[in-house]
Amino acid sequence: MRHFLDIHKIDPEVLRGILDQAKAMKDARTGCPKGVEDDVQALAGRMVALLFEKPSTRTRVSFDVGIRQLGGKTLILSGNEIQLGHGETIADTARVLSRYVDLVMIRTFAEGSLLELARHATVPVINGLTNRTHPCQVMADVMTFEEHRGPIAGRKVVWVGDGNNVCASFLHAAGQFGFEMVVTGPEDLRPEAEFVDLARATGASIELNSDPAKAVTRADLVVADTWVSMHDSPAIKERRRKQLEPYQVNAELMALAKKDALFMHCLPAHRGEEATDEVMDGPNSVIFDEAENRLHVQKAIMRWCLDL
Ligand code: CP
Ligand code: NVA
Repeated sequence: MRHFLDIHKIDPEVLRGILDQAKAMKDARTGCPKGVEDDVQALAGRMVALLFEKPSTRTRVSFDVGIRQLGGKTLILSGNEIQLGHGETIADTARVLSRYVDLVMIRTFAEGSLLELARHATVPVINGLTNRTHPCQVMADVMTFEEHRGPIAGRKVVWVGDGNNVCASFLHAAGQFGFEMVVTGPEDLRPEAEFVDLARATGASIELNSDPAKAVTRADLVVADTWVSMHDSPAIKERRRKQLEPYQVNAELMALAKKDALFMHCLPAHRGEEATDEVMDGPNSVIFDEAENRLHVQKAIMRWCLDL
């Protein structure tokens, strides 16, 4: 079963193939009206379930549109519409959904729910974000970097702020795509050791520090994300703000990176907190390219899952 659960679980050659296909599909659409279907009707006659236990704009819309462009149909279930782990076991939900649909994408809280779903589904499952990782986002980010700056291998990527789920997928990608990574933030907001150890074990150079200026020096890519994620309690907001204020990505910090360093943010952003408008809307920002590339890369991920 070809599940897309995390970047480190997929062979690097497969990941590369997904990025190549995403680029080819993107290029083929150049100049096409947005609503037009692709010539490759890879998902014709297929039904994809999109399950959301957390809010989403990009993931929801990019999967829905991508499936339609490939000729497939979507079923979106969110919040309490599904009984994932309430009322019946996740295993039973997985077995039932597998009788109706060809592919399942899920955004959920506990990673265990994703893994349980994948274990019992007889159709592929895609991780659309958990509390721990966000692999589709980082595939789009690697695609975006390479579109602008060529191969990401050997480049210096700096994650600034909370060592969260998106950061974890960047660490997975560092191991698989061979880039160097520095994570800068307060000690108690570092990524889990498991992610760091795994990236190091696959040969990636990973540095953790609490000095944002030192971290971004000579960076090829600077990445920020929200200080409080969807799974965090809103009660920690004030504490996080105080802790992470020194890690705001502003023009002064970006000036320490390479002149042509890119800035990324997966969005949604809290402008004026983790990054200033000047950086978000600046010449080195590729935040909307990242959002667009979710569409292209997820179409390629779905085709790989279904071997189409
Ligand atoms: N970046 C991202 O996954 O956005 P959404 O939460 O809007 O899906
Ligand atoms: N770290 C963020 C990413 C949102 C796409 C969150 O989990 O809320």
